[in-house]
Amino acid sequence: MPVHAQRDPDKHVMENAYAKWAPIYDALCGPIFLNGRRAAAQAARNVGGQILEIGVGTGLSFDDYDASTEITGIDISEPMIARARLRAASGRYSFVKGLAVMDAHDLRYADASFDCVVGQFVITLVADPERVLSECARVLKPDGQIILVNHLYSERGIAAAVERLLAQKAHSFGLRPEFPFARLAAWAANHGGAELIERRKVKPFGVYTLVRFRRIEQQRVAA
Ligand SMILES: C[S@@+](CC[C@H](N)C(=O)[O-])C[C@H]1O[C@@H](n2cnc3c(N)ncnc32)[C@H](O)[C@@H]1O
Repeated sequence: MPVHAQRDPDKHVMENAYAKWAPIYDALCGPIFLNGRRAAAQAARNVGGQILEIGVGTGLSFDDYDASTEITGIDISEPMIARARLRAASGRYSFVKGLAVMDAHDLRYADASFDCVVGQFVITLVADPERVLSECARVLKPDGQIILVNHLYSERGIAAAVERLLAQKAHSFGLRPEFPFARLAAWAANHGGAELIERRKVKPFGVYTLVRFRRIEQQRVAA
């Protein structure tokens, strides 16, 4: 099946997958995603102010922020957010202002509420990535940024072939290896209220890609 024909993951499949992941998530994914998390949080700290993290998970990223920011985290998975709440209750993260169970497709925040929206290892897992990105843009203040970090589809070579092969089974485990960058770029081009300002591989291994969009005044998109 060509990569553009792969189905987006089902919301309930993700909820079930992360209910299972929650107890072991930190031990397993903490080290694996460390460089990506740090790069995204550093980029978010450069923006500063009020930051919304979608798919905040167990709150592993709290260690990468500081009191120059105010963090609000949401996640669709109750067991993951329960762990983030426990982490926040340690008292070490006074800058974490709120944690809620919420679907990133329907953010319960007013327009222009945040300076920055961060999505670490989540945009490839949602049922409708374009809708989630539009929700992120809606809750951003003018000039605010969407910062994403993820493994994206390798597009060629053996890695791409393996990712295509794994794609079908991976969704039920809450993973998605075959999501192409082109889809993120196409969203920005069609949305009209966001521009791509950065796309770079995260050092040292370049396995993850960091992508930044800036909120701009909505342009009228030609029909
Ligand atoms: C791979 S984990 C990443 C967690 C965290 N950002 C990190 O880097 O450790 C993906 C997270 O996205 C959440 N998620 C999946 N679909 C979501 C949705 N539609 N809305 C909000 N969160 C979602 C999952 O529950 C899970 O906690």
